Amino acid sequence: MTLRLSVLISGGGSNLRSIQAAIDEGKCDARIVLVASDRASAAGLAFAAERGLPSCVVSPRDHADRAAWDVALAAKVAEQAPDLVVLAGFMRIVGAPLLERFPRRIINVHPALLPLFPGTTGPEQAIATGMRVTGCTVHVVDAGVDTGPIIAQAVVRVLPTDTADTLHERIQHAEHALFPLVVAGIASGTITLDPTVAVPGAIDDGSVMLAPLLRAGTS
Ligand code: GRF
Repeated sequence: MTLRLSVLISGGGSNLRSIQAAIDEGKCDARIVLVASDRASAAGLAFAAERGLPSCVVSPRDHADRAAWDVALAAKVAEQAPDLVVLAGFMRIVGAPLLERFPRRIINVHPALLPLFPGTTGPEQAIATGMRVTGCTVHVVDAGVDTGPIIAQAVVRVLPTDTADTLHERIQHAEHALFPLVVAGIASGTITLDPTVAVPGAIDDGSVMLAPLLRAGTS
């Protein structure tokens, strides 16, 4: 059954594009039923409009306080009854109303190999600490900051000449491969977000590691 996706963005939306591209290419049995942004200026909204994807802005500025915004966001997302909520460059911490409506059904992409470098400066921290490799992580969202169970990671080399920007650019290339792969895996059932059927171990195809929430017996 085609997986219904709500994609939450704050900015450029390159990950949104990569997921839609995978859908277009028949690599991912999913449909984007909503693009929601916390910022009216998010460039990803223009892409949604171009592609005729339903979209909305739920801005904290339009709500009395953080709690009211959390409730409004959860209600807006729930309207479209998504199977999966995808945080694709959504630069806010998700509150209890959304987490409670979609337990273990919210995933995020982060530009570092978690649990290293949570927060908003993953590429900067990788350079500052002298890492030779970093990467990106797709994980289940919980109440913490980038703390939920890791689904998949991809490794990116840190070059001696890298600035945070050049490194982030290459990390984003990896994200654009990894994130659609994870969504496709969830759609096809080869990746489960249910920890009760989790199996230890990893599959390594040379560039992408999928761990530790894969269904047993898949490859
Ligand atoms: C990505 O690098 C992601 O890891 C981080 O925010 C960035 C969003 O980029 N959470 P985009 O809006 O998808 O282009």
